[in-house]
Amino acid sequence: MRFICKYMTTLFFILIIALLAECVKEIKPTMNIEEKVFGKTADGIPANLYILTNSNGMEVKITNYGGIVVSISVPDKNGKFYDVVLGYDTLEEYTRDNPYFGCIVGRYANRIAKGAFMLNGVEYTLAQNNNDNHLHGGIKGFDKVVWNAEIVRRDEEVGVKLTYLSVDGEEGYPGNLNVTVIYTLTDSDELKIDYMATTDRDTVVNLTNHSYFNLAGAGLGDVLGHEMMINADRFTPINANLIPTGELRSVEGTPLDFTRPETIGSRIDADDEQIKFGGGYDHNWVLNKSGEELSLAARVSDPATGRCMMVYTTEPGIQFYSGNFLDGSSRGKKGSVYHKRYAFCLETQHFPDSPNKPEFPSVVLKPAETYKQTTIYRFSVK
Ligand code: BGC
Repeated sequence: MRFICKYMTTLFFILIIALLAECVKEIKPTMNIEEKVFGKTADGIPANLYILTNSNGMEVKITNYGGIVVSISVPDKNGKFYDVVLGYDTLEEYTRDNPYFGCIVGRYANRIAKGAFMLNGVEYTLAQNNNDNHLHGGIKGFDKVVWNAEIVRRDEEVGVKLTYLSVDGEEGYPGNLNVTVIYTLTDSDELKIDYMATTDRDTVVNLTNHSYFNLAGAGLGDVLGHEMMINADRFTPINANLIPTGELRSVEGTPLDFTRPETIGSRIDADDEQIKFGGGYDHNWVLNKSGEELSLAARVSDPATGRCMMVYTTEPGIQFYSGNFLDGSSRGKKGSVYHKRYAFCLETQHFPDSPNKPEFPSVVLKPAETYKQTTIYRFSVK
């Protein structure tokens, strides 16, 4: 009798534990997307905030103003979640003086020398909004417009589809350009960005995302201790105006060699002409790849928190910018101050100034073609 009693009690406890385990499974978050009002631009155009969550608890906030990634919350090695991208709390701050935090950059990411290029024998002139160069699409680029937004739900994925028509002549570029950008959060802790564009006249296109990452947590310090690997044997050296010279130079023996993981800070102030021109790292690396396949471009990790990010892209280049122009002048989320090198950007792209460099992979889009690019930022812990 005593044996049966003991047996029944054990069985009872096993049953309770199994039931509790089921409940925990039940309350585990599932993939979700929520839409909220974020505010209105100075012209009175409303913009929303999309809050994407996956079943591991990863959360990404995106606004259709500038297609900006407002926050990415991922766990550290102890399971503690924190936001790893710089930005602001309100739409109003994004519309004021934003150094391209989190946005979609277009029609042409990075610089076009002297704000001019020739296409089919015609010279196009663009705004010189960065000394005498054109930067990130001009005065009102894709980062400063309100995109149309639509929620997308698929198995194991939630996303936001953004569309924008950039009219012929906008910011000086030819052709009506229909642009689609789809942000997707997957259950494998990836933020996937699919870009597409079509035109009705020959034009140039180079789109990217300009998130400023800090894997230790946005606003919590600099990124000099992060370890960076860039899958590139060559880079495009720049002149003093940050314009590529046209050369593809080997990284070997230079502070730009990240073929094996190196901390961002170890050579950032090296006595090297390229480092001086960039004020640190502000260069385009030529990715090791055979074509337009989706391939590993970079891997970054923060040894202190264990957070790790892999970047995959179909693009031929990646701009690694070490936040050299951040100067603590603007207050970010929760009042935090973003000082020099408090973040890094990894902007997947075609090479800067390609419209003036026929030797670089072409950025010309013709009416019969579709511009396509995919980039994935995958998060994990070490
Ligand atoms: C450029 C930097 C620039 C930064 C913010 C980066 O893509 O390479 O030179 O300062 O964007 O505008």
